[in-house]
Amino acid sequence: MTKLYIHSTDPELAARMKPGVYEKIVARRNEISQFIEGALADTGEITLEIGCGHGHFLVSYGKDNSTEECVGIDVNRGRIFKGRRKIERAGLKNVHFMECDSMEFLALLPNRIKIRNTWVLYPDPWPKKRHLKNRIIQGAFLEALACKTKKGGQLYIRSDYEPYIDWSQELIDQSDKWTSGENLIWPEDISTVFQELTNNRHFSLTAELNPIEKAH
Ligand SMILES: C[S@@+](CC[C@H](N)C(=O)[O-])C[C@H]1O[C@@H](n2cnc3c(N)ncnc32)[C@H](O)[C@@H]1O
Repeated sequence: MTKLYIHSTDPELAARMKPGVYEKIVARRNEISQFIEGALADTGEITLEIGCGHGHFLVSYGKDNSTEECVGIDVNRGRIFKGRRKIERAGLKNVHFMECDSMEFLALLPNRIKIRNTWVLYPDPWPKKRHLKNRIIQGAFLEALACKTKKGGQLYIRSDYEPYIDWSQELIDQSDKWTSGENLIWPEDISTVFQELTNNRHFSLTAELNPIEKAH
């Protein structure tokens, strides 16, 4: 299922897909759009977590910040299912979990909804060179996220794998849209499952959306 997300719906690519795959992608995207239009019908601003896993962070964050509409996305259906159970048990109305890929979500998010802050916590490190393209943080991702983020919006990235933070830092430095935080301020001290699995080993990075284009 995960593979579907990385395929484009570009008709030329679709022509090369196995029969039925293109239709599945379109159906899946319609489902995501319907979810957004339903759950976020009256919402103009969201807090976003990408790769939310079982939702530990966002459920806790949503409880502490009940006036914010929070959306967690992950490509792993089982994890989203568990996250939704947590929301139900906690009776939270301001937290939503969606099975969705990061780039797909940004493409489908309507312009009427702006992203306040984005959290990317313990993203899969993909350490091998040939797998770098699978990392969530990419130049195109930073561009797409910037287009949907409100002025002054922040991006928070945390990982136990330092090269991932270096990689993200480099991409942020190259970006016209983001400036990395000079003095790191990490506003929410909420641990995640992977943070606990790594005995709280972490390297963090924050970036702010530029009000104007950065001069290089
Ligand atoms: C290492 S886990 C971390 C989960 C959680 N943030 C934590 O710290 O416990 C990384 C998560 O990112 C999800 N993921 C990977 N690529 C993604 C993508 N392109 N879009 C959304 N989620 C993605 C994976 O399915 C996985 O649940």
